[in-house]
Amino acid sequence: MRASTRKILSTFATAAVTSGLIVFNATASDLDTLVKGCANCHGKDGASTESTVPIIGGISEQYVIDSMAIYKDRDRPCIEAEYVEGPDKGKKTDMCKIVDELSEGDIEALAKFYAGKTFVRAKQEFDPAKAASGQKIHDSNCEKCHADGGSSAEDDAGVLAGQWIPYLEQTFKSYASGERIMPKKMKPKMEKLSDEDIKNLIHYYGSLQ
Ligand code: HEC
Ligand code: HEC
Repeated sequence: MRASTRKILSTFATAAVTSGLIVFNATASDLDTLVKGCANCHGKDGASTESTVPIIGGISEQYVIDSMAIYKDRDRPCIEAEYVEGPDKGKKTDMCKIVDELSEGDIEALAKFYAGKTFVRAKQEFDPAKAASGQKIHDSNCEKCHADGGSSAEDDAGVLAGQWIPYLEQTFKSYASGERIMPKKMKPKMEKLSDEDIKNLIHYYGSLQ
């Protein structure tokens, strides 16, 4: 049943390529369904209100595509996540399982969608003294690839400014343990940071609101 449905859909897709309008409509409704699923954790337009779920609205198209490939290759841990709302609220899954269900076309459409949204910075508490020290560490070690205090999406390295502090804490832990593979040139910069430096950096990113 499933295989034949897929065959029908792919035949339809091939036939529809000649008509731009049909392809556009088909893609738009699928995207709508996909986005609704993502929104059950990442919030409306990727503006997550859950501190362990990253804000993804306004990150670059390339970064979304790359992240999905990284999950698919398991070069990033499959951290258990609960649906925050929707029909599966409270049910557990993880990003690896979610990515495994997506086609390349789905991922491209989702990446375009989220890149077109605005990064809505988290409203959260931070320690101003730690944030001030963190800024210095950022400026001399991280600014080159995470431009404008980690707020630019254009460097395809994610957006750090205004990201949720609990998500960042988890992320630094995954990098330190080696479970999340680091970009080659980021590694030496990260490895020379003390625990204190990392805390300060996280408060700096969290202070940008
Ligand atoms: C059950 C909740 C849940 C759902 C549904 C979900 N995500 Fe996630 N997503 C998470 C969590 C939690 C993380 C962070 C976990 C981690 O560190 O790997 C994450 C991480 C990501 C990241 C990496 C962000 C970064 O800054 O590196 C991207 C991109 C992403 N999700 C996109 C999506 C898309 C697109 C969908 C819909 C197809 C989706 N997610 C559905 C919970 C969810
Ligand atoms: C040579 C470029 C480069 C340098 C220098 C660099 N980074 Fe990165 N960083 C990247 C790239 C590329 C990614 C995205 C790849 C990935 O998903 O792991 C990234 C991802 C990250 C992420 C994950 C973002 C997310 O949304 O999950 C964090 C956190 C981070 N970097 C922190 C830092 C800090 C802190 C420094 C300075 C000590 C730093 N980086 C220096 C290139 C760099």
